[in-house]
Amino acid sequence: MMKSLPNDDPRNFIQQAKVHCAYCNGGFPQKHPFQDQRIDVHRSWLFFPFHRFYIFFFERILGNLIGDPNFALPYWNWDSIQGMQIPSYFTTPNSSLYHKLRNYKHMPPHLVDLNYDILSPKIRTQDQQVSYNLAFMYKQMVLANTKELFMGSPYRLGDSAQPGPGSIEFAPHNTIHDWMGGVDTPNHEDMGTFYTAARDPIFYVHHSNSDRLWELWTKLEGGRRDYRDDPDWLDSEFFFYDENLNLVRVKVRDSLDTKLLGYVYEEVDLPWLNFAPKPSRTKVQREAKKSSILASKSITNKFPLVLDSKVSIVVKRPKKMRSKEEKEQEEEVLVIEVSESQSNNVKFDVHIDDDEEMLSDQNHTEFVGSFVSLPRGNNNCHKSNTTRFMLGISKVLVNLEAEEDDHIVVTLVPKVGKGDVTIVSDEDWLEVALPKNASRLSVSHRTSRQPESQAKIRPLQIPKSSARRTDEECMVPRQPLIQTLLEYRIRQPKPA
Ligand code: C2O
Repeated sequence: MMKSLPNDDPRNFIQQAKVHCAYCNGGFPQKHPFQDQRIDVHRSWLFFPFHRFYIFFFERILGNLIGDPNFALPYWNWDSIQGMQIPSYFTTPNSSLYHKLRNYKHMPPHLVDLNYDILSPKIRTQDQQVSYNLAFMYKQMVLANTKELFMGSPYRLGDSAQPGPGSIEFAPHNTIHDWMGGVDTPNHEDMGTFYTAARDPIFYVHHSNSDRLWELWTKLEGGRRDYRDDPDWLDSEFFFYDENLNLVRVKVRDSLDTKLLGYVYEEVDLPWLNFAPKPSRTKVQREAKKSSILASKSITNKFPLVLDSKVSIVVKRPKKMRSKEEKEQEEEVLVIEVSESQSNNVKFDVHIDDDEEMLSDQNHTEFVGSFVSLPRGNNNCHKSNTTRFMLGISKVLVNLEAEEDDHIVVTLVPKVGKGDVTIVSDEDWLEVALPKNASRLSVSHRTSRQPESQAKIRPLQIPKSSARRTDEECMVPRQPLIQTLLEYRIRQPKPA
């Protein structure tokens, strides 16, 4: 139905996809005096709330068109064992949910690889793939136990785009985009690049699941703290078209309670919740290897470092042997500052205290995570930015029995886009201090870097009169924004 609406109707399917495009490829400038900065909803704390609103309006438009105010989008639960294939109703050729530009090799019964590597996809048995996926989900959900690690970095008025993504955004979010995307299209269109991703109907159920994981994460381990005490986050705003063709403005603060948005997620088992990976070697083996690395490498390396081959770096820990209480309150975080020179696919893996010659498999403790980015198409307006890749390693060090060590050995393994990535600096590789749970902690214990913007209230805002776009691809219908703009406040749940 959305596909058959007139081209310039904002509810039209392609128009909806363009709304996403505009927000990811720099369609909107920031407010004066920062109008040179283009807004991007990826790689920052805007990722979850923006996409929640985006599919919320999509859901309302669809519900309205089919005359069902209670319509709810399904979610594609790729994090549970039964959900690791593309849902069959997306793969029936005569269904409106079928889409041609996809990787045909990944049709059922092929299982999704949640940490998919587009250059060298792994051949695994179904059982192996399931356990890799679950171990990976554990890392992305459970080990990412601070708001910075899970939700991404703060992004305030005046900041440049893409300060740093959260765990789920890197993967499985980005990796599934890659995994779904076409094989014969230059940027793996449609799902494999953001400017076209939302043209594939599967986008919406993919994001519905990412949204569900945000919801789940806030309740893990007795409640985790997100940014809801930060006015800059709460007052950041976006524009959408609603089901009545009104252009509306929404604020992040209205996205926090899904019940008020009219939906909840059906509860299902979380098979990854207790699927903690184990070390691949004994403590003795690990220590022998590590001392030979420490003897052969100096602590400082040359930065900026172009990542064109495997490299191990010795990083000094700011504090070791923290008390149980300290560990409960603060997470030790590995911070890698990354700059990408190209707008192609990029992926590199990070291992801790591993053996460079014989790297542990991804379902082991030593593998701690992957940096994953998608090609941007011709429209990359954020080329020169650096972004922070953060990994929580407190539990990793406990599992490796490496908590008494003064140093850790970090191995970076480029997988896709070798040489396209530069590790910017050697400062602040490790931060101890990102506060964990709200329930246990009320004051911020951040001892390390404090962004200078912290003190000012600067929510990210878009000027009212601007619907500037960078290119044809992202054009949204040209309506005088100022006249149709409505303040959209979420008040009432939809009738049950
Ligand atoms: Cu805005 Cu899945 O991307």
